[in-house]
Amino acid sequence: MQDIQKYVEENKQRFIDELIELLKIPSISADSKYKKDLLKTAEAVKESLLKAGCDVAEIHETPGHPVVYGEKIIDKNLPTVLVYGHYDVQPPDPLDLWESPPFEPVIKKTEIHPEGAIFARGACDDKGQMYMHVKAMEYMTKNDELPCNVKFMIEGEEEVGSEHLGWFIEKNKEKLQNDVILISDTGMIAKETPSITTGLRGLSYMEVEVTGPNRDLHSGLYGGAVANPINVLSKMIGSLQDENNRITIPGFYDNVKEYSEAERAKMAEAPFDLEEYKKKLNIADVQGEEGYSTLERASIRPTLDVNGIWGGYTGEGAKTVLPSKAYAKISMRLVSDQDWKRISELFTKHFESLAPKSVKVKITTHHGGQAYVTPIDTLEYQAANDAYAEVFGKDPIPQHSGGSIPIVSLFEKELRSKTILMGFGLDTDAIHSPNEHFGIWNYLKGIETIPYFYKHFTRLKQAEK
Ligand code: BES
Ligand code: MN
Ligand code: MN
Repeated sequence: MQDIQKYVEENKQRFIDELIELLKIPSISADSKYKKDLLKTAEAVKESLLKAGCDVAEIHETPGHPVVYGEKIIDKNLPTVLVYGHYDVQPPDPLDLWESPPFEPVIKKTEIHPEGAIFARGACDDKGQMYMHVKAMEYMTKNDELPCNVKFMIEGEEEVGSEHLGWFIEKNKEKLQNDVILISDTGMIAKETPSITTGLRGLSYMEVEVTGPNRDLHSGLYGGAVANPINVLSKMIGSLQDENNRITIPGFYDNVKEYSEAERAKMAEAPFDLEEYKKKLNIADVQGEEGYSTLERASIRPTLDVNGIWGGYTGEGAKTVLPSKAYAKISMRLVSDQDWKRISELFTKHFESLAPKSVKVKITTHHGGQAYVTPIDTLEYQAANDAYAEVFGKDPIPQHSGGSIPIVSLFEKELRSKTILMGFGLDTDAIHSPNEHFGIWNYLKGIETIPYFYKHFTRLKQAEK
């Protein structure tokens, strides 16, 4: 397979140009204004799958945004790889912090990406990483190097909680049968340090509304005598963490998996430079749960964060008002073996109990998903390990990530196969932030590594027989 390097080198400009075209479509799943653009992106992904050699590529309508399905079955007796990815992206705001418009991709060099990086919303998460699989497929079919069957399932609702993907899987279990699920929607430790993600956090996303008086009041006439819902909400939120930054919701930690000293020591071997980390974020210090390292706080420990808080007067100048309502969006990142539905219930019960009689609270659950951990002593992991080793000349490091892909735990339950998370993004690629980008080196390295996974997976699977 030495010619994959040559193939990538010869076609790299086209690979970049094609990705840029895909990035121009604003497939923002959270905003219904862009429904047509999601469909347009789905069509483009479908076409790209056909061009890459899929025998079948279809668009499946769902009650939400469509799922793109593609396949190439070369022999029913050979193993099947199912590739999952998403073509939807996060909203780009705040727009004024982008150095170039989010849907007008440009290539710029950065310190970490001297070869250049593509700047656009979705460049790394996940259009760029998803498209690596399409181009790897193209290489394999054009060069007679496809060793097994392939299926693609590319969805358009990942960034809004994959609401209808469970429904799609349930309806298409037979069609989606596979031997391994392959995903590139995570990161790697560094360019010279390949890694395989072996853990993802779960999520429980809540919204709270606190209502005080039935209308906005003059803060001079009523202030001090009537509860201000913003003041109350701030206090309630403040009390959700104690002085050691532990979450105070009763029962919250009940099922949190504790790792042994040996396991923690192993995790701590991953390269990490705290000073560099602070410098990159321009913070004087880090903060988090007492007794855990920064890496642990951001991967194997649960969290509670306010994502947005609003109410009252936020326009120009000053307005003296005691607002009627206050709101906040609060998310909790969960770890195994917390159950997100139970955590949502515990949050609701506790938050209600915190409210003084002077206000009313309304709590809604947005979406959630279970955490995910996978062992490394499996054939699937071995295949991925061998693929990285062949391309990078060293073994990848298994790594727990702090991010969430809630659907992954459902895949294993419903489709009964293991998932391999081969991420090629870097933490500094600014996913979900202004100026998201994806290194061209990373993009091409991904395309180069993926065919080796197919090769080793098929080899190990055949040897098992
Ligand atoms: N690709 C990310 C998740 C991710 C990124 C995992 C980097 C590990 C490393 C995914 O698109 C994402 O953003 N997920 C959301 C959850 C979803 C329910 C909105 C997240 O983690 O916030
Ligand atoms: Mn993603
Ligand atoms: Mn994302």
